[in-house]
Amino acid sequence: MLELSGVQSGYGETRVLHGMTFRARPGRVLAILGRNGAGKSTTLKTVMGLLPATAGQISFQGRPLHRERPHRIARMGLGYVPETRDIFASLTVRENLDLAARRFPVPPGGWTRDRVLDLFPRLGERMGNGGMQLSGGEQQMLAIARTLLMNPRLLILDEPTEGLAPIIVRLIHDRLMDLKRTGLSMVLVEQNFGFATSLADDVVIVSKGQAVWSGGPSDIRADTGAQHRWLGV
Ligand SMILES: Nc1ncnc2c1ncn2[C@@H]1O[C@H](COP(=O)(O)OP(=O)(O)OP(=O)(O)O)[C@@H](O)[C@H]1O
Ligand SMILES: [Mg+2]
Repeated sequence: MLELSGVQSGYGETRVLHGMTFRARPGRVLAILGRNGAGKSTTLKTVMGLLPATAGQISFQGRPLHRERPHRIARMGLGYVPETRDIFASLTVRENLDLAARRFPVPPGGWTRDRVLDLFPRLGERMGNGGMQLSGGEQQMLAIARTLLMNPRLLILDEPTEGLAPIIVRLIHDRLMDLKRTGLSMVLVEQNFGFATSLADDVVIVSKGQAVWSGGPSDIRADTGAQHRWLGV
């Protein structure tokens, strides 16, 4: 579904990705794990066209992505929830949702405002609140809801649980599990090992801008050596 091959990218003169290679398969959840600064967010930003790939190939459903503009990449069906959540703080929950819904047509059986509110009823109670008044968990729910309204074929999440209380982490976990059950393909970057491995079908570990390990969630749970070496667990 999404395939990276030998991708290099970085910030100005600083190269961060040194030949990133992995693939995400349709209908599956791929977890990308790795220490702070390993290049996980840089990988996602490069996929989304927010940073240019200076070498290598990125393709989505067989079509090259690495020369496309970010808005084109989103139109092709990649929905991205960044680390920063990027909701509009000055707009209400309703306005944030409507803005997302208006930009993208709803395919048959697709995500509508009612459907995302069924997934996150808490947002329904907060419709008139401004983005700034939301808790971290509510902001994350809104960020995911907005992205679903774009009806992506692949949902890409960068550390959705960062900074959230355990009860909210649990809730986000269960909702992502619901999404997985619908067959939605996902790429999940996470520091929370338990969270990531319980959702993932496939795992790739990134270190110093390269994929250094790949396997299944049970493989990495059993491989304490790899955990210690690559994740510092
Ligand atoms: N805007 C930027 N300008 C310059 N260097 C950056 C920028 N953002 C990240 N970097 C550097 O790129 C490297 C990889 O960062 P990246 O954000 O991809 O890591 P990460 O794996 O997502 O880590 P974390 O788990 O902390 O989010 C780090 O050395 C970081 O300092
Ligand atoms: Mg990051």
